[in-house]
Order: sequence, then C-alpha cells, then structure tokens
Amino acid sequence: MRRAISLAGLGIALASVAIGTGGVRPAPIKVVDTYERKCSSCHGKEGAMLDKGFEKKYASPRELREVVESMPGAIGMRSDELDAMLAYMRAVSRREPFLVWTERRSDALVGEVSPAAARVEARAKREKLRVERPQPSQWRIALPKGVRPDDIEIIAQRGTVRTTLRLKDSPYSHTK
Ligand code: HEC
Repeated sequence: MRRAISLAGLGIALASVAIGTGGVRPAPIKVVDTYERKCSSCHGKEGAMLDKGFEKKYASPRELREVVESMPGAIGMRSDELDAMLAYMRAVSRREPFLVWTERRSDALVGEVSPAAARVEARAKREKLRVERPQPSQWRIALPKGVRPDDIEIIAQRGTVRTTLRLKDSPYSHTK
C-alpha cells in the first residue's frame, strides 16, 4: 500500500515538472471520436439523447464516474482516458461546447470540438491564430514561429454559449 502511495506521489511530482517546463501534452484519447464509436449507438450523436443536466442526479462526481465506468463502451478504458470522457459528459450535461487537444504535430496542433456546429477561434497572447476544420468535429491550428502550445487559448462558441480552453491548464475543457 505504501509503495502504491509513493508511486502516486512520484507521478504528481513528474507531472508538475512537465508543467513547469512548459511540457504540456495532448489528451490521452480522441474523446469525441471514441464517444461516437463506442457510445453514440445508445446515447445519440454528440450525446443528443442524454438529458440536459443529467449530472445533477448524481450526489458526487464519483457516482457519475462509476456509471460511466460501467458502460459497455468503457470496458478497458484507462483511468486518464475515463477522466477525459467524463469531462465530455459534463459538457453534454451542461449543453456547452466541449474542446479537446488530441495531437501535436511538428508544426500544428490538432483537436476536436463537440458539437461540430460550434465555431472555433484561437489566440496566442492576444494574437489571433488561424483555425482550420479538416473534419466537422476537428480543428487544426498551425503554430506560428515562437508560439508554444501553452501560450494558446481556444474558444468554442455555439449560439451565445462559449467554452474557453487554455492549454497551459489542461488538454480538455470541463475538468470540473
Ligand atoms: C448498449 C447501450 C449503451 C452504450 C454502448 C453506452 N451506454 Fe451509457 N447508458 C446506457 C443505459 C441503459 C444507461 C442508463 C442506465 C444506468 O444508469 O446504468 C446509461 C447511462 C449513461 C450515463 C448517465 C446518464 C444519465 O442520465 O444519468 C452516461 C453519462 C453514459 N451512459 C455515458 C456513456 C458513455 C460515455 C459511453 C461510451 C463509453 C456509454 N454510455 C455507452 C446504455 C449505454
């Protein structure tokens, strides 16, 4: 038990070193794509069949986690992957756009947005960046010289509802 605790502590220590050096990382899974493949057959495209505010039925985040963990599509999902999926589920429950960064290429960042109908904008220290949409629920931001992922802020907007994701904080929105 002691050993498990100290390993967990080491994990936290390593994670903070990574943050300290600006080593931000993409999410462990393509959350929106995984949802569409493994969950949408029962809960609808982009979570359309999940009730608005469903998360309020659960007394604690832990209870909601247990439900999602028990889903047929969640079998074999690692804990960090489940965390990312839960964040998406919170966004669906709140009917807010969800943003996730999924991939770092040499010259660009790639991620997902749900719903696909949401508009996506990005900035790095006030400078507006160009956002491409290679697929309806995908975004791609070319990295200008000297701009690091942790400088980037991404905004998704649907109607009047906005979600802001700062990559220095997390690779996906709705962490709480
Ligand atoms: C075979 C159908 C099926 C699949 C596939 C499935 N679910 Fe479910 N899900 C259900 C059913 C039935 C319930 C309600 C029963 C329950 O609470 O256990 C539910 C409940 C939920 C809830 C709680 C909704 C509420 O209103 O309380 C969430 C969130 C959820 N599922 C997410 C997921 C995610 C994420 C996946 C994919 C990893 C997934 N489900 C895959 C059938 C499915």
